[in-house]
Amino acid sequence: MDYIIEGGHRLNGEIAVCGAKNCALPLLGASVLTDEQIVLHNCPAIVDVFNMLELLKAMGKSVFWQGDTVTVSGTLSTTTAPQYLARLLRGSALILGGTLAAYGSVNLPLPGGCAIGARPMDIHLKGLESMGAEISCYDNALHCKGALHSAEYEMRFASVGATENLLCAAVLVKGTTVLSNCATEPEIEALERMLVKMGAKIEGIGTPDVSVTGVKKLHGVEFDIIPDRIVAATYLSAVVAAGGQITVTNCNTNHLHAFINVLRPHFNVVQYADAITITCDSQPSGYGRICTAPYPFFPTDMQSLLLAMASFSNGGQTIVQENLFENRLEHIASELVKLGGNITVKGNSAAVTGSKLTASNVVARDLRGGAALAVAGLNADGQTVVHGAENICRGYMDLDICLNALGAKIHKQ
Ligand code: EPU
Repeated sequence: MDYIIEGGHRLNGEIAVCGAKNCALPLLGASVLTDEQIVLHNCPAIVDVFNMLELLKAMGKSVFWQGDTVTVSGTLSTTTAPQYLARLLRGSALILGGTLAAYGSVNLPLPGGCAIGARPMDIHLKGLESMGAEISCYDNALHCKGALHSAEYEMRFASVGATENLLCAAVLVKGTTVLSNCATEPEIEALERMLVKMGAKIEGIGTPDVSVTGVKKLHGVEFDIIPDRIVAATYLSAVVAAGGQITVTNCNTNHLHAFINVLRPHFNVVQYADAITITCDSQPSGYGRICTAPYPFFPTDMQSLLLAMASFSNGGQTIVQENLFENRLEHIASELVKLGGNITVKGNSAAVTGSKLTASNVVARDLRGGAALAVAGLNADGQTVVHGAENICRGYMDLDICLNALGAKIHKQ
């Protein structure tokens, strides 16, 4: 699928943010911890969520959608995830800890997802091994078994997925498991809060040091998926690209702190707890030096948007350092160059000198990079074609329709 974008149309109006992909996936992964109903409101209708639900269904869960609410229930009929589904998304890895804890074994084909880096799983696996799991890897799949016990485990890096998997493993394990150097992204705090609502005992919610005291059984839950901070940042970048004034609603602006801090010196930003209004009439001369790092610092998932904004800024320089995923910077930089972006990448840093972009044909090589190219297309003179727009649909609900509602001119083909 292609997005065909006619640049140069100003954006105006109000737009609500949908639920977060990276919150929905771990909450769905945690559904294996109980046979009772997990009812998730504000669930985004996006391809990664559809594929995660297909995976759970193939393993025996029942799934029911109504409006933006998805209900998952039932017992797993197998602890082996089918390869054709697991390879479609990285989020499939999020069934590992919970399935092992609840059923004593799990077989997971190596997960897929965006090719933004090597994405090893050593932190997940070492953590599970410290809890007594026996893990082997053959036939392109992880095979884990064993009765888990409590443990103390310090992650060598604050991995989002490993934190989520180890939390889901620890909630059903006898004794107190102490996890340190945990990731503290808002989506992890949401998972911790949902687990507590299911009956789990967790201390240190939202902090790097988390203690989990296992319980025998968890029960069903009704829970709201948190708003997608990356989608919110995408809308904000879109108005930076196109000019105009928009209000982004149904977001938690605390979760957008690092991104808003980049915008605030250059644009008129009015911030409320759950909404933000931004007015953009001219381009700043660059954004200075920004490095990606785990929450609460500048997120890697917003790096491509920042690189796009830097590339159409007004002449000044921006330095962007990507510290998490080794391919992400190159993916987006090489495509922005086709739009006239003046970007030099050395190692994990990009030096960008802003200039007016001109339309061209580009390729969405990963989800966030694809969305950033759509944003860049709003700035470029002429008609930009973003090939591979199906990558964008993995994480965005109708990005084209949402931006068109604000005045953009994008159509799919
Ligand atoms: N890492 C390891 N070993 C591990 C785990 C991670 O070396 O065992 C490394 C990774 O290679 C990477 C870094 O640690 O260099 C961070 O990886 P992390 O585990 O934190 O990321 P993830 O769980 O694979 C989630 C999001 C990503 C987001 C990152 C970072 C989901 C489903 N995915 O991935 O989202 O970029 O955290 O915040 O929650 C996206 O939405 O487009 C996306 C890629």
